Amino acid sequence: MTEISVEAPAAEPACREFPLPQDGDFPVGGFVVRHSGQVTAFVNRCPHTGAPLNWKPDDFLTADGQLIQCSLHGALFDPADGRCLRGPCAGDRLQQLPLRYADGRWLVDAAQAGNSLRSGGK
Ligand code: FES
Repeated sequence: MTEISVEAPAAEPACREFPLPQDGDFPVGGFVVRHSGQVTAFVNRCPHTGAPLNWKPDDFLTADGQLIQCSLHGALFDPADGRCLRGPCAGDRLQQLPLRYADGRWLVDAAQAGNSLRSGGK
């Protein structure tokens, strides 16, 4: 297990990006979502093309803050579990990362992201 400390947004709904250890040719990041009293973390990679979801820093949510939206083709994801609800990758999901809170810090198991990157995110 390779845990890294990440920052979660103080208020909701909101997101915060974090870097993941590089595993391959392209740097890949992750992001934490605080939404509806839950805090979740995902790899920042859309299941449609593998592109990052956002164009602007920490900007992953729809205007009403209810769903995660891919900025490339508009796929919509449930912030609770990363399931794609609408768009070209409907039925697929973002890769969720194990996240826990301990000693005042949010910790992500970054090794899980590495496994995903090597296997193509499935
Ligand atoms: S790359 Fe995300 S919807 Fe196409």
